[in-house]
Amino acid sequence: MTQRKKLIAGNWKMNGSLSANQALLSGLVGQSQGLVADVAVCVPFPYLAQAQEVLKDSAVAWGAQTLSEREPGACTGEVAASMLQEFGCRYVIVGHSERRTLFGESSVVVAQKAEHARVSGLCPIICVGETLAERESGATLNVLKSQLEPLRAGLLTSADFVLAYEPVWAIGTGKTASPEQAQEVHAYLRNWLVERAAAISLEAQQRIAGVRILYGGSMKPANAQSLLAQPDIDGGLIGGASLVLEEFLAICRAA
Ligand code: G3P
Repeated sequence: MTQRKKLIAGNWKMNGSLSANQALLSGLVGQSQGLVADVAVCVPFPYLAQAQEVLKDSAVAWGAQTLSEREPGACTGEVAASMLQEFGCRYVIVGHSERRTLFGESSVVVAQKAEHARVSGLCPIICVGETLAERESGATLNVLKSQLEPLRAGLLTSADFVLAYEPVWAIGTGKTASPEQAQEVHAYLRNWLVERAAAISLEAQQRIAGVRILYGGSMKPANAQSLLAQPDIDGGLIGGASLVLEEFLAICRAA
């Protein structure tokens, strides 16, 4: 069985201030020694310089929460992959449900963003997940399949990405998926990746086994261990708890 090092990534969403960030980031640097898991924080664009400065000599990586799929140029308000590179980003979240619902990002655009991130040297954390209505109607796996379908062969061949399963009904609600519910979906996602990669090449199929699939959606210190103990859950994408140093560290220590 392929060993995958756990990854705990914080998604600060549209939160933070220079003073609060300084305390949180410095606390992470001071207490992240000895953690077994990989740790990262994805911060709002204006705070990338601060994250780079505080985290640069630590094991904690940083990243952004989206990017443009376009090259730099006449695209007001957008942020290019090359700009994230300049601030030392390792990761970039793409396709978060809030981007899909609030900003109309389709799965095709998400796939474009993911591929653009990869070829720009960033590691995309690609988010998929169903709504409560979709789950209650039994459409979960079909919804996830439709969100995965546009992913490009280059991305799947390289396996240079992370997948995050974030049931929309668990995001920010305190209603966490049970370990069994999450494991069922993660196993499906992994099988989909393996089957799709196998159709490309044997090399792609072998590489895809190393892709980490994170769970996101009200992961907290109290439930992290049971979720992270599941064979196909390779880490967490953490929202609210990533803004509280002790909570985020407790989740990192559970990995
Ligand atoms: O991207 C992670 C986020 O959607 C999960 O948020 O607050 O439920 O941990 P939260």
